[in-house]
Amino acid sequence: MKTFQKELRRRRTFGIISHPDAGKTTLTEKLLLFGGAIQEAGAVKSNKIKKGATSDFMEIERQRGISVATSVLAFEYKDIKINILDTPGHKDFAEDTFRTLTAVDSVIVVIDVAKGVEEQTEKLVEVCRMRNIPMIVFINKLDREGKDAFELLDEIEQKLNLTVTPLSYPIGMGYDFKGIYNIWEKNVNLFTGDPRKDIEDTIEISDLSSSELDDLIGNTAANTLRDELELAQGVYPEFDNKAYLEGRLQPVFFGSALNNFGVRELLDCFIEIAPPPRPKESDIRVVEPAEDKFTGFVFKIHANMDPKHRDRLAFIKIVSGKFERNKNYLHVRHNKNLKFSSPNAFFAEKKEIVDTSYAGDIVGLHDTGNFKIGDTLTEGETLNYRGIPSFSPEHFRYINNADPMKSKQLEKGIDQLMDEGVAQLFVLEFNGRKVIGTVGALQFEVIQYRLEHEYGAKCTYENLNVFKATWVEAEDEKSEEFKDFKRVKAKFLAKDKQDQLVFLADSQFSLQMTQQKYPSIKFHFTSEF
Ligand code: G4P
Repeated sequence: MKTFQKELRRRRTFGIISHPDAGKTTLTEKLLLFGGAIQEAGAVKSNKIKKGATSDFMEIERQRGISVATSVLAFEYKDIKINILDTPGHKDFAEDTFRTLTAVDSVIVVIDVAKGVEEQTEKLVEVCRMRNIPMIVFINKLDREGKDAFELLDEIEQKLNLTVTPLSYPIGMGYDFKGIYNIWEKNVNLFTGDPRKDIEDTIEISDLSSSELDDLIGNTAANTLRDELELAQGVYPEFDNKAYLEGRLQPVFFGSALNNFGVRELLDCFIEIAPPPRPKESDIRVVEPAEDKFTGFVFKIHANMDPKHRDRLAFIKIVSGKFERNKNYLHVRHNKNLKFSSPNAFFAEKKEIVDTSYAGDIVGLHDTGNFKIGDTLTEGETLNYRGIPSFSPEHFRYINNADPMKSKQLEKGIDQLMDEGVAQLFVLEFNGRKVIGTVGALQFEVIQYRLEHEYGAKCTYENLNVFKATWVEAEDEKSEEFKDFKRVKAKFLAKDKQDQLVFLADSQFSLQMTQQKYPSIKFHFTSEF
């Protein structure tokens, strides 16, 4: 039991979120270097879609190969087990990122010093803010000219609706970048611009007014630093661990990931303040990580890249207890016991079969089609984890079978791709036609390509004018109002994969009119309400 408690306490499972190009991959790599998990820079493959690639979706296929390896990057640092969950930055894959965020216990937000808060950062931070996920902000690329520290902190507060407090502070910037003052540890770290240095020499400055500081960075820089820090102290609240853990306060660090500068400060503070596995709400109760019985849920499914083996890897976040190899677990949705002989645990870029994993960890289970995103596994209790809703897609098309001999394959392919969360399927009530809804236009190509290459099925698409899919909730399904709604809107009604009723509104206007006409019916933009 003692080991169990110790194992829980030393786990930190988090995600790094950012707008593409802010430096997420670079930062991840430097963190791995600190953990000794990789030996050299350049070892972590970027999972982003490179601009100007020959074909975006071929690039996605290439990335899919890489992203199995980078889905979970685990390493040890100062006896802390760190699990980094990969989050795609590309907006077409935002939903993957939202789902991954249900499995993290905290996040680090990376912001480019010159670009400040960008669009994807806003969206992702909003999701974290709504769920009170503890966040640390890392302002990157201090070796380049960028915005002034106060301006950035202000922008973060305004645009991201956060309450920040700097825990490190830059001394100069760009050409004049001299280093950072670590408010958390009260020392100065001088910038040498040598990215190969992985352990930086820090100089203890317990008293900012000491002339030592002037000797180090020069009189002018020292005075500016003193003034700005004094000002910052007046403006920003003092760091408070409880407020951070409750999502009410976000500490900020400055640095340059590429130069491996300011990263150690971030990591050292992170392992101290970031939360170990957190409790999670289920449909019947809140589950504590320290409970001895295992529970967990699927937050991601990754199809095998080898078309000959159509098995998939389901990623499970362990919420409570420990997961053991060859033990029977209940698949709650199927009410079926399953046993796993080769659960994968993740280390840096490798995966290995392990006997025991603990709450906070991620295990990868080979799956032949049992799982879909959101499924819960337990030791017998029938509880379901919530919080992985589907959002209304942005793009809609009819999907047609282009090869009548392969309709079974098409059926199966669509079914499995939907379970993976690639897109959503809606079946029209009045004629049974299938409509695919996606977040980004790219997914249509991905689906077509994967149906053909993995399932041997061919499909074509047909345009369909839908503005939003809304999930319908009626106060009283027997009411005249609801009957009227179903009759009048029959052509716009569909069922999702869970058999929930969905209204496919063709315009914002028609949605508004429908809402006005049927006040007792609720139209939800997410599948969970
Ligand atoms: P992402 O995963 O968030 O999309 O960003 P990534 O780490 O790939 O970084 C985006 C670009 O920013 C990369 O340059 C990277 O080298 C650069 N970068 C990251 N951190 C810093 C930093 O601290 N300072 C400076 N000056 N640049 C930084 P690239 O030219 O797009 O890619 P590459 O050709 O270098 O791989």
